[in-house]
This record gives sequence, structure tokens and C-alpha cells, in this order.
Amino acid sequence: MDVGTPQNRDSWGSKAAFILAAAGSAVGLGNIWGFPTQAGRNGGAAFLIVYLVAVAIIGAPVMLAELMIGRNTQRNPVGAFKRLAPNTMWWLIGAIGVLTGVMILSFYSVIAGWTLSYIVKAVTGTFTSSTDTNALFGQVAGTPGQAIGWHLAFMVLTAWVVLGGIRDGIERSTKILMPLLVIILILLSVRAVTLPGAGEGLGFYLKPDFSVIDGGVIISAIGQAFFSLSLGMGAMITYGSYLDKKQELVSSAAWVTGFDTAIAFLAGLIIFPTLFSSGFNPDVEGPSMVFVVLPQLLSSMPPQPYGGIIFGTGFFMLLAIAALTSSISLLEVGVTWAVDEKGWSRRKAALLLAALAFVIGIPSALGNGAVSWLTHVPGVGIDFLDLMFTIFGSFGLIVGALFISAFVGWKWGVGNAGDEVRATDGSFALGGLWVVLIRYVCPIALVGILVHTLLQTF
Ligand code: TRP
Repeated sequence: MDVGTPQNRDSWGSKAAFILAAAGSAVGLGNIWGFPTQAGRNGGAAFLIVYLVAVAIIGAPVMLAELMIGRNTQRNPVGAFKRLAPNTMWWLIGAIGVLTGVMILSFYSVIAGWTLSYIVKAVTGTFTSSTDTNALFGQVAGTPGQAIGWHLAFMVLTAWVVLGGIRDGIERSTKILMPLLVIILILLSVRAVTLPGAGEGLGFYLKPDFSVIDGGVIISAIGQAFFSLSLGMGAMITYGSYLDKKQELVSSAAWVTGFDTAIAFLAGLIIFPTLFSSGFNPDVEGPSMVFVVLPQLLSSMPPQPYGGIIFGTGFFMLLAIAALTSSISLLEVGVTWAVDEKGWSRRKAALLLAALAFVIGIPSALGNGAVSWLTHVPGVGIDFLDLMFTIFGSFGLIVGALFISAFVGWKWGVGNAGDEVRATDGSFALGGLWVVLIRYVCPIALVGILVHTLLQTF
């Protein structure tokens, strides 16, 4: 995926290849780890509903906006804004996006590192034979050597894929792995909803109690939507920049958005029945939730006694790979920028940025039991990883998406943006609706959130 000048630039082989790669970026830990964690903390079904609304009226229009910018300019986020608004400060949004990408990568790799260690635990039958899955998680996340070691291992994997021309890697692997992930998730959800006591979990997840919806729930849902869809920091501008001017935009955006949302929904369908059936509390488990709850389900899979090993290994391998197709997109944004704008070699960019993200990720790795002041950061009371997630994974993306929607709605203009759609799609049937969403609904909702957050913090 070398950038270079527009004439010798790569492009995706087909619309399907693009959709799979963009879906590979979107589908990751955010769906399987992040979504159930957020839903568990924010009232279950009520969160699910707010989330679906957020995806439809804010996530989808911003997805389309990022793809329009990327495909129109065929450039990295900084270069794209420079091209569409020369001699202005708009390029700063791209620059903040690049920074946000490195910051998100720093803690993303920590969690992804846990999935690597769980592959080993599954293969060796450790969690089939263990009864205390909380202690099991503590052995990985709470031991400095393990936590940092697995984080390093995952970062090396990410850098290695980005270094070696990800075009083939991404296109080829997502074609096989995404369908496999869907199949294993469906099998697990069938098992989960038929567990004894699953009904209570299904109720928590599907029967909304609207009284729990407050500003905090709405912010978490919108932040989660951006994170899960890989929006707000230029990843979709970058991926869109490799789309050639033949593929339809609106249906591409719809496929990626719909697919990502379906996977998150399925993850909840697996986690909550299992959680309630094994007596956990949905809002206390925090970042470890998936790692503590899922081994219970996995080890109960038929045929006994091997089901745990088969499904455990399969599941955590697919999760690690889903994480990898996402983490490469986080690193790729910075690498494309450094190659394009700074003239670095791809190798130098990938190695330096990955090393930086690794170092910044160390406190996140140590904040899940290994070091107590990082586990309860003084003054905020949450762990360091959670703090990073809140600042960069949620707040930063909301700020980014605000500026992207304002840019497309008001600066570059909905007319130009609409022409980009019509160039390939022929017509833009939902154009009128999209214009209202991107010009008014998105900016107003996002400004509202920022004001609310600032008022709460100070
Ligand atoms: N969307 C991915 C997930 O759900 C994470 C991710 C990849 C991401 N690229 C991103 C998040 C860009 C925000 C921005 O796991």
C-alpha cells in the first residue's frame, strides 16, 4: 500500500476487496471486547438502542464523509485536507488523527496481547481445567513480564504486516478469516443462549430500561460507535484513498457499517447470557470482562472434553487476527502520513511509530493489576488503559468526527461531496437525508457532547 504520487498509487482490487479490508479495520476488539464492556457498564439493552441510533444517524454519515474525502483526494489525512483546503489550518485535523492513531494503537496492542496469551492457554487446556477465570486473567495482565511481553509480541506482528506490503496480506487474509469469525461467533451464540440461566442475560441485553439513559450513556455509545467503525481519525480517509473511481460509495459505506454493527450485536448475544449464567456482574468486570467470562463458555462447548480446546483456540486465534487487521489500520494512517508528507521510508516509519506506540503502551499494560497506582490512577479512579481509551478512543474520535463533519458539511461543501458520490453511484438517493445529518445533526450532537463532558469534568 505504498503511497507515492497519485499516478502510481495502489488501489483495491475490487469493491468486495475494499469492503473486506475496511470491515477488517472496523471489526476488532472494539466489537468483541469494547462493545459488551460498554453495554455492561451502561445498562445493557438501553445502551444497545442508543448505540444503534448513534450508528445510524452519526456513524454512517461520517463513514461516508471520510470515504468521500479519501477517494476524492487519493491522499493521507493530512495531505487530503491540504488538498481540499489549501493554506488553511484544516490539515491539523489530519495531524491530530495521526497522533490519535498512535495513542489508540498503544493500548489496543495491550489488549490484543492478552488474546495472544489466551491462544496459548486454550491450546494447552489451561482454561478448560481452571475454575477461577479471574485468577487466570490476573496471571497474564497482572504480571509485568507477561503483560509487557505479549504487548511487545503483538506490536511486532503489527509492524511486520505493515512493513511487508499489506495489500496482499489484508486482501487475502480477510477474505478467509472474516467468514470464519462469523461462523464461530454464530456457533458460540447458539451455545450461549441455550445455557441454563441465559434468559436473565438476554433480558439485560434486549429489554431496555429507558430510565438509565443519561448524557454519560449517550456519550459512551457515540464514542463506541466511532471506535468500532474506525472513524474520527482518518483511517477511513486513508482506506478510501485507495478506492478507485469506479466503486460505488454509498453501498460500500453501508456494508462496512452494517457488518461491523452485526458483529458487535452478536458479541453481546454471546457475552451477556454467559455472564449471567455463570454469576458475574455485568458492570464490575471492566476491561477484563471478555477474558474472564468467555473461557467459561468456551470450555463448556461440545464435544467434551475437547470442545474447550477446539473452540477456545479457534476463537482466540480469530480474535487476535481480527485485532491485527484493525491494528494495522491504526499504524497505517501514521505510516502513510510519514511516507507521504515527511518523505520517510516505509520501513523507518513503521518501525519508529510502532516503537513509539509500544513505549506509550507500557503504563496501560501495567495498569491491570501489576502496578497499583496505574490500576487506580490517582484523581480519576480508573485504570490507565481505561483513561487512554476515554481520552483518545472516545473523546479524541468525537472531536475528530466533529471537525470532519463540519469540514464536509460547510467547508468543502455538500455539493462537492455529493458530486463525488454521483460520479460512481449515478444518483445519490439518500443525499438529502445525508446533507441534513452531516451539516446539522452530527455537528450539533457532537458539540453537545463536548460541552456536556467539559461541564462534568470542571
Ligand atoms: N475499529 C477497530 C475495532 O473495533 C479499532 C480501530 C481500527 C480503530 N482503526 C481505528 C478505532 C481507527 C478508531 C479509529 O477494534
